[in-house]
Amino acid sequence: MRDQLRRPIRDLRISVTDRCNFRCTYCMPKEIFGHDFMFLPKNELLTFEEICRVAQLFASLGVKKIRLTGGEPLLRSDLPVLVEMLVHIDGIEDIGLTTNGLLLKQYAQQLYDKGLRRLNISLDALDPDLFAHMNGRGIKPAAILENIEHARKIGFKIKVNMVVQKGVNEQEILPMAAYFKEQGITLCFIEFMDVGNDNDWSFERVVTKKEIYERLCATYELEPLEPHYYGEVAQRYRYTDCKAEIGFITSVSESFCSTCTRARLSSEGKFYTCLFASQGFDLRELIRGGVADHEILAAIRGLWEKRNDRYSDERTEQTAIQRKKINMSYIGG
Ligand code: GTP
Ligand code: 5AD
Ligand code: SF4
Ligand code: SF4
Repeated sequence: MRDQLRRPIRDLRISVTDRCNFRCTYCMPKEIFGHDFMFLPKNELLTFEEICRVAQLFASLGVKKIRLTGGEPLLRSDLPVLVEMLVHIDGIEDIGLTTNGLLLKQYAQQLYDKGLRRLNISLDALDPDLFAHMNGRGIKPAAILENIEHARKIGFKIKVNMVVQKGVNEQEILPMAAYFKEQGITLCFIEFMDVGNDNDWSFERVVTKKEIYERLCATYELEPLEPHYYGEVAQRYRYTDCKAEIGFITSVSESFCSTCTRARLSSEGKFYTCLFASQGFDLRELIRGGVADHEILAAIRGLWEKRNDRYSDERTEQTAIQRKKINMSYIGG
């Protein structure tokens, strides 16, 4: 199955909740996501059985990799049970979880026991006051670093994600690189993107991969690595004097839409063919309406075969401002 740009489907990013225990300034600013913000009620979320049915259907169409996201996925109760259900799906070779890490102390062992092996943990700064400000909840980086260590001891393969914003946390690039190099943990620098409608994005606020790379090269020698597989999101490098790697996610300066094999499922069961889509297709309605598998498959196939999304290739200051997009916390990045 190929879309209009000849891209196969390989990955399914599943958001399990639209809620988060952080209020990152660039994702869920607390002025907008306040006490009165209407999150989805529980009965509107797909149940684990429904998520698994959808995942099975996607696997039969070519999906091999699943990523669980949120909001903050660890806020979804019994998440390890979902992991256990997903690892048994035929064709699924890899499951990852993207989390802010705050609840890992509580859940890492259970997740590992149920078969999860990979964690991508977001951390935007090591400076305590800056991080506390950026996450909007006053959480200090030490809490996340401890949990990373805890998860690592359990046996998880860990990647740390840092969203870099001009004038906000760019001074943290080198301290973060030094810390995670020492730890032997891959640090991935993410260019700040215009997801959602609330983060005041502009090109001026992006620190590009080139700028980050040049800063790193003043201190470290880096060597590019071949992608692990077709359509890998991060560009990877290794330090020449040790085994640690770093990555760059260059959605703004070097977009990677031409190899985008990713489908997204929101927590209420909407299927999106792009992170920057403004509309999704309601799979929950079909599922709860008693529609048979082959009809749901036909609907998904029809949407994928029509797909021509390439938002990051086409991004301009105008599209960033004018296009109505789904929020990152809703779709999970
Ligand atoms: P692995 O490669 O499996 O480790 O995960 P990943 O890097 O694809 O996932 P993660 O959730 O850690 O995402 C890191 C960053 O990449 C986030 O900012 C995502 O929004 C961004 N990202 C992931 N997929 C896409 C995509 O298809 N398009 C764009 N524009 N950004 C993406
Ligand atoms: N631009 C880039 N990355 C973002 N993330 C959240 N919002 C943005 C944005 N505007 C990141 C999170 C997390 C991942 C899922 O997406 O920090 O690491
Ligand atoms: Fe921050 Fe992720 Fe929560 Fe958004 S979903 S507020 S980026 S921790
Ligand atoms: Fe895929 Fe859309 Fe991201 Fe391009 S912008 S890589 S099409 S999700």
